[in-house]
Amino acid sequence: MYYPEEIVEEVRAKNDIVDVVSGYVKLQKKGGNYWACCPFHGEKTPSFSVSGSKQMYHCFGCGVSGNVYTFVMKYENYTFPEAVRLLAERAGVRLPEVEYSEEQKARANRRARLLEVNKEAAKFFYFQLRSPHGTVGYQYLQKRELADETMHRFGLGYAGKNGAELVQYLRSKGFEDDLIKEAGLANFSERHGLVSQFWNRVMYPIQDANNRVIGFGGRVMGDGEPKYLNSPETPVFDKRRNLYGLNFARTARSGNIILCEGYMDVIAMHQAGFTQAVASLGTAFTPEQANLLKRYTDNVLLAYDSDGAGVKAALRGIGILREAGLTGKVINMKPYKDPDEFMKALGKEAFQERINQAENSFFFEIRILEGQYDMNDPESKTKFHREIAKKLCEFSEDLERDNYLQAVAEKYFIGIENLRRLVATYAAQTGLAKPVERPKSGVRQKNKPEENAKKSQRLLITWITDEPSLYEKIKKYITVDDFTEELYRKVAERLFADMDAGNFNPAGIISTFEDAEEQHEAAELFNTSLPELGTKQEREKAFHDILLAVKKNSYEYFSARLGSDVNALNQVIEGKKALEELAKLHISLD
Ligand code: CTP
Ligand code: MN
Repeated sequence: MYYPEEIVEEVRAKNDIVDVVSGYVKLQKKGGNYWACCPFHGEKTPSFSVSGSKQMYHCFGCGVSGNVYTFVMKYENYTFPEAVRLLAERAGVRLPEVEYSEEQKARANRRARLLEVNKEAAKFFYFQLRSPHGTVGYQYLQKRELADETMHRFGLGYAGKNGAELVQYLRSKGFEDDLIKEAGLANFSERHGLVSQFWNRVMYPIQDANNRVIGFGGRVMGDGEPKYLNSPETPVFDKRRNLYGLNFARTARSGNIILCEGYMDVIAMHQAGFTQAVASLGTAFTPEQANLLKRYTDNVLLAYDSDGAGVKAALRGIGILREAGLTGKVINMKPYKDPDEFMKALGKEAFQERINQAENSFFFEIRILEGQYDMNDPESKTKFHREIAKKLCEFSEDLERDNYLQAVAEKYFIGIENLRRLVATYAAQTGLAKPVERPKSGVRQKNKPEENAKKSQRLLITWITDEPSLYEKIKKYITVDDFTEELYRKVAERLFADMDAGNFNPAGIISTFEDAEEQHEAAELFNTSLPELGTKQEREKAFHDILLAVKKNSYEYFSARLGSDVNALNQVIEGKKALEELAKLHISLD
């Protein structure tokens, strides 16, 4: 772990979850818990609860749960160490310095210096834009209908006609020439010495998700070439792994992210209130950027240019999003070229309409494909249908594929059975996906046995944490090995040890896992929805059933491993005895 476990626990204990969460959302006390509308999904009636005694939160609407660390990580989109630092500072806990090698230190220093020089350059451009020299840039941005507030928010600036000024300024602030050069801010020429890379352009500082200036884009005023000049890649400017506007979009909480092509599009969208807009950095959208987006949303709306190049880029983008497991939709910008022009012409209500009408990426692809065929020519039309069948083979899930198949058949007037056969043929040939199977009936498939086993283990842990006194009553019959799911076993081990020591602390257990996914899963264990039962007898029976289910699963699990697992025989013998005793046992819940 990055920080010692004791420190992590100390910081957690010093940050009461009710205090911390109420700094972000308005909490209302009701019964023993605090309630709010969930900040992680849209809702109008509160189903997000915070428990002071458990030091955990749980949303009954969307199912998220966790402790104070996972809350900060989720809300701020922080990594675990970042959340530790924030909460340590909040509680006044001093964190130990992490030990680095000399080389690591030197590299970290260089990166820090590059970020500093960028920040200083951004300041220089910012003041230039607002000085008499910068009038031309300021007027240009005004003509593009940007409000002062917007220019300020994005830190827009201007690089003047005198290329030596920036360099003089940075030198005066103590930056060495080779650092200025490495940051891509200036170039050396025989005639003029070191001069600014950007000259007579309006400047867009590019910030990473943590608001640090990592590079610049400069736009020529008027029609010069190149229209945009961007900083080169540097140790702090990785164009494949950053997105313009993400520093704002990451907390927009709109349920989606809008991906645009240009800086100006992003700015215009934010000005109109669509603060979830981002753009790639003068290069095509990359798989790394898709993964970055995945940290913030599952739904990406493409707001690409409506011209041929834009459509091509959108088709590429859809593929990348799909690969990353994101749902892509396409916003129709017509008759305007890009979001910036659309917004100017029709305004935000009209754009919201377009968001609502965004086209499913599969239908977008099919519609574009359609344009390449002549529907009046049977041969061409057949080819089109074949292409549809091929595309359908890209869905690996039967149900999803069949839903799309039905929808596309209806939309394009294709015989549904014919299309099914065609898909089966292609699927068999290419092996991309299994042949289409018709869904058997409307009945949902039953859960797999492992799923049921996991569920009873989760229920048992939640129930014990809700009523810790139960632990004493059942500890004779249950062992940590009964939790056959590895992560569950680790949690049970900690929980039971804590309870044996008279120290009930479920929230602390979550942070013993390093990985965010594991923390999430561990938190879930303490917040499974228990059956809502009226009478005491019903509740006692339910608890008894859960306990039996856990025991029975563990007995079967180890029986299957006799011979391969040295621990198994013991577990089986003990398990059998416990099962027999449990069958007769009455556990009272009071
Ligand atoms: N771009 C670039 N270099 C160019 C042209 C474009 O890096 N010579 C990148 C920029 O990141 C730009 C994006 O591609 O923001 C989209 O380009 P384009 O559609 O031409 O620009 P717009 O954003 O529409 O710019 P503007 O509205 O200022 O004309
Ligand atoms: Mn534009």
